[in-house]
Amino acid sequence: MDLSTNYLGFKLRNPIIVGSCGYTFSVKDIKNLVENGASAVVLKSIFEEEIVWEMEHNLAQMQRPSTIYPEIYDFFDLENIEDSVTKYLNLISDVKKEVSVPIIASVNCVSAKEWVPFAKRVENAGADALELNIFIMPSDLERTSEENEQMYFEIINSVLAEVKIPVAVKLSYYFSNLAKMIKRISETGVKGIVLFNRFFEPDFDLDSLTVVPTNVLSNPADLGKSLRWISIMSDRVNCDLCASTGVHDGKAVVKQLLAGAKAVQIASVLYRKGPKVIGEMLEEVKNWMAEKEFDSIEDFRGRLSQSKSLNPAVYERAQFMRYFSEKF
Ligand SMILES: Cc1cc2nc3c(=O)[nH]c(=O)nc-3n(C[C@H](O)[C@H](O)[C@H](O)COP(=O)(O)O)c2cc1C
Repeated sequence: MDLSTNYLGFKLRNPIIVGSCGYTFSVKDIKNLVENGASAVVLKSIFEEEIVWEMEHNLAQMQRPSTIYPEIYDFFDLENIEDSVTKYLNLISDVKKEVSVPIIASVNCVSAKEWVPFAKRVENAGADALELNIFIMPSDLERTSEENEQMYFEIINSVLAEVKIPVAVKLSYYFSNLAKMIKRISETGVKGIVLFNRFFEPDFDLDSLTVVPTNVLSNPADLGKSLRWISIMSDRVNCDLCASTGVHDGKAVVKQLLAGAKAVQIASVLYRKGPKVIGEMLEEVKNWMAEKEFDSIEDFRGRLSQSKSLNPAVYERAQFMRYFSEKF
């Protein structure tokens, strides 16, 4: 049975990629993930702020930098930030010596400013591809939606001008016309789009009256949003789509492939069940394929995408017209 699939120009041995998370930040953990079946790995993101800090730090020759990101002092442990760029580049080159699957570096970025030449250093360190984890919180009342969206294109175009390795973009769903935005991004020259990133949310601790993070890990029930949008977009884009969020078992992998995804990324399920879950998920995919008599992923990939559906409206239905009508 052929579980291979093509993503970002690579032939992957199966569709399960480990997404960027705490499991993808050391050679030891990544080796373990690959031994358990991961077909590619996205490294934990390095943050734009960390890259800029290093640049400014070098310029200021060991003086405390007047960074353009004052919030860096709130979010980063400055004891450890010093080496983060060197450590990241070493991680790429070290892990490349140990595993043969594609290694996708990841940068969390919010601008097309000084950090961009770092993309070239990622390429030179041996990364096979680069995933841009872009999220600009649409909360600035001074910025229009167009200005917000323009920032994504500025980042993407400047990175594409910098590197030859394939570039993917990981998005959120915070856009006023999501379909149009995904389509336009797919036409920039990126090789893949990951739908969607997931963010933990704020909660209030009622004892200490402070804001605390919640919902750090996803649940299987979180699959629906990316399933809907992969289904709607998979035949309308000019690049590969990769599904992320809520993929916790083999059935979810099959569903995303049926929607038209080239591959899936997993993170939370690793925290809940450990790396051996990858093998279990692949077994489930194989069993389903055997039952349905499919020999390869391409035999069924995209079969349930919106464009192939006899009832395309069902993918766009979102209101609770009939459900619960007797109660509410
Ligand atoms: C603990 C943790 C750390 C994460 N760190 C990153 C990160 O550095 N960069 C990134 O793009 N996504 C990060 N993510 C998001 C995951 O890559 C993934 O997109 C998201 O969790 C949804 O997938 P899941 O439902 O399989 O967890 C992180 C997720 C978790 C749970």
